[in-house]
Amino acid sequence: MTARPTTHHAPEAVATPGLDLSVDLGRGLVLPNPILVASGTFGYGIEYGDVVEVDRLGAICCKGTTLKPRIGNPTPRVTETPGGMLNSIGLQNPGVDTVVEKYAGTWAGWRVPVLVNVAGESVKDYVEVTRRLDGVPGVAGIELNISCPNVGRGGLQFAIDASAAGEVTAAVRRATDLPLLVKLSPNVADVRPIAKAIEDAGADALTAINTLSGIAVSPSRDRPLLGNVFGGLSGPAIKPVALRIVYEVAQSVRIPIVAIGGVTELADVLDYLAVGAVAVQVGTAIFADPTLPVRLIDELAAECGRRGLDSHRPLIGTALPKKRSAPSAKGVEYRP
Ligand SMILES: Cc1cc2nc3c(=O)[nH]c(=O)nc-3n(C[C@H](O)[C@H](O)[C@H](O)COP(=O)(O)O)c2cc1C
Repeated sequence: MTARPTTHHAPEAVATPGLDLSVDLGRGLVLPNPILVASGTFGYGIEYGDVVEVDRLGAICCKGTTLKPRIGNPTPRVTETPGGMLNSIGLQNPGVDTVVEKYAGTWAGWRVPVLVNVAGESVKDYVEVTRRLDGVPGVAGIELNISCPNVGRGGLQFAIDASAAGEVTAAVRRATDLPLLVKLSPNVADVRPIAKAIEDAGADALTAINTLSGIAVSPSRDRPLLGNVFGGLSGPAIKPVALRIVYEVAQSVRIPIVAIGGVTELADVLDYLAVGAVAVQVGTAIFADPTLPVRLIDELAAECGRRGLDSHRPLIGTALPKKRSAPSAKGVEYRP
């Protein structure tokens, strides 16, 4: 574990004069603005250099990174759905050592913070990947993807169990002083105790949400369509679920929440801020328009200007109840 000085501060060069869109995610990680790009939808950042002003982004969450290289799942791996898509890429990536060797040098020269999205099959895996990222110039922080099978617990995902989620977070926390974000899964009955366990284990921030579990059926209807059977649903279709989760988690933890799920326009960003998120990530929408995230920064700045605000902070949490609301796990239809 290496203590290090703060590496990323909000830049002034690209800011609208008098407007402060910066976001403090803790442990010295201050983003220049609240618009990030989501893991798995923006590669390692360098792929988009010609079409996107990458250095203006709030942060980049790079592709899921594992200890060893992974070839990913059998094809087909993606299919369109109403209002979104299903994917089962299976964390195809060259492994942490190659990621560091090929990309970290470039990241170190960028103003935009790069958060490495870390995945694994055991607590040991997560800790080892983290150790290899710790102290590497260009790595601004870690986003833990805990929607992965925990081989030690019968292959059930870390993200669906408060003790497993807390255990992996605590182990990674002990291994690094890097800013640590942990990504929540929507595929649970009650997300609040899981979020709390992650906070108690020392995470600096939460990201919410990963994809929703789903399947599609092949055109001949003789089998599921995706090679891996199960896929993750993303896109506008999942926004109400993500909003609900951010709304519930914002009332359960004190650490900052970065929202993700179906962001395609400024209204989505404003909705997520209203339910308590301090920032948002853009994912699936990047495939249709890679320039969207940077445009959203300008649109958010303009919106603040229109409202006479010198920061987006007054927009955060305006839709949260004064008193803690009943959890969704109590049901929607039935009222006692
Ligand atoms: C093709 C694809 C690959 C993804 N890969 C990862 C990944 O490696 N790690 C991760 O934590 N999330 C991954 N995600 C999930 C996204 O980061 C995001 O949480 C999700 O897609 C919801 O946001 P969206 O509706 O804006 O796409 C992936 C999503 C897609 C569509």
